[in-house]
Amino acid sequence: MTPANPIVNVGNKTQEAGDAHGHQDMLAQLLSPLAQNDHVRGAIDVILNQMQLLSQELTGAKPPTQAGGETLHAWMDRAKAVRSRGGYFPYIGSGRGRGALVELIDGSVKWDMINGIGVHMFGRGDAGVTRACMEAALADVVMEGNLQFNADSVAFAELLIKEASRASALHYCFVTNSGCMANEAALKVCQQKRQGAPRVIAFSDCFMGRSVAMSQIGDEPGYRQGLTQNILVDYIPFYNADLGERSTEMALWHLQECIRRYPGQHSCFVFELVQGEGGFNVAPREFFVALMQACKAAGIPVWDDEVQTFGRTESMFAFEALGLGEFIDVVSIGKISQACACLYTADMNPKAGLLSGTFSASVTSLHAGLSMLSRLRDGGYYGANGRIANLHAAFRTKANDLVKRRGEFFPAVKKPFGRESKNFVSGVGGMMRLTPFGGDKDRIAKLLQNLFEDGVIAFMCGHGPHHLRFLPPIGVMTPEDFDPVFEILEKSLQRSA
Ligand SMILES: Cc1ncc(COP(=O)(O)O)c(C=O)c1O
Repeated sequence: MTPANPIVNVGNKTQEAGDAHGHQDMLAQLLSPLAQNDHVRGAIDVILNQMQLLSQELTGAKPPTQAGGETLHAWMDRAKAVRSRGGYFPYIGSGRGRGALVELIDGSVKWDMINGIGVHMFGRGDAGVTRACMEAALADVVMEGNLQFNADSVAFAELLIKEASRASALHYCFVTNSGCMANEAALKVCQQKRQGAPRVIAFSDCFMGRSVAMSQIGDEPGYRQGLTQNILVDYIPFYNADLGERSTEMALWHLQECIRRYPGQHSCFVFELVQGEGGFNVAPREFFVALMQACKAAGIPVWDDEVQTFGRTESMFAFEALGLGEFIDVVSIGKISQACACLYTADMNPKAGLLSGTFSASVTSLHAGLSMLSRLRDGGYYGANGRIANLHAAFRTKANDLVKRRGEFFPAVKKPFGRESKNFVSGVGGMMRLTPFGGDKDRIAKLLQNLFEDGVIAFMCGHGPHHLRFLPPIGVMTPEDFDPVFEILEKSLQRSA
């Protein structure tokens, strides 16, 4: 079971055990006078202690107790009434959780392997995160903006620039409140640099968010049905491990054809270095180098959409993990960082007026984001032997063992042109995938519902084959936590077969 993060008193300051290298001191400088008051800090400690006491009984998955006011189904009906359609799962959180465990309003407890699609990376009820939220809530406002902002906005951008600039020329940072808005900023920066060039190059199966522009670039027709289309997109096939080097040659050929066909008309090539919604597809460095070099030769800016990969690979930025920093002109990040951002080089710096807006992000998301990113940076998470790499290795060990023991759930995965694959376990870092039932969408959808009932929340990725997707809380999940998760998964696979 994920250990609780105990509150430890250090003089008249408090510190969450496991927080590394005094980044608390950095955060302390950002606090409002009220949040620095000793009485207030003592009260925060009391609250955190109570929070931990009240969550101690959460030690594993458990079925509903129906405790607490309205039932889950009544709340789901209310949700349906206001949203016009039901949720994917019958999920309403109670607001209580512990580590990788979340409690729902019906009293059931589940292992959360998707975490708001990759957002809650220190899981639930984490003392460090809750402390940061309480401290931020004591500021005089809820939201920071582009006209008036507090120190958190600046420190958040500084942390990102410092991490990014270690291995790239990224130099400036614009903070936003969604991944999609970070992408909108990135596209604007690229378009302005290229004097309004109308075309975008993207990978097949990419996903970029839900604005009018991003829905057009994302490679999923269902997400742009009925929209007016005014962005011209050229799709390049993503890396196909079955084809090896030939796959790189094919992608490069397609790119060169686009550049030849539409000279000077591309504002950027947007890269997802690990495809997220598209199926947790990975590619070797050489694949990206070939394409990025071709972009550079043609003067096409390289934009790296790290909204899903950010924080989760063996470096904070996936471009650093892959050694691609020299090619990157613009990068967008989100999810794990709580507030989102678009970073760009000095050469891409747009004219005044292009990037702004009422909100940047809430004080809470900026302060909690800073706290979480500092912990990830300083807590031994990154590197080939870091905690993220070890967690991924533990996932693979459990998943490969399951595939070996229960081969009946893992028929060959169907690929285009009648090809088959036996690559059932894949992903990188905190992005983990498993492909049962030959990658069949309907059967995996049924498995997800059964899993949910049995006590594990996961999700799907891929456009065919489809995969079971895990985005576990890398900040607090331990390799041992996979034991109960895989026990439940095996039972649910049996039920769904
Ligand atoms: C690669 C990628 N880009 C952009 C987005 C959009 O982010 P948001 O949903 O925060 O707007 C996502 C969301 O899943 C994503 O995976």
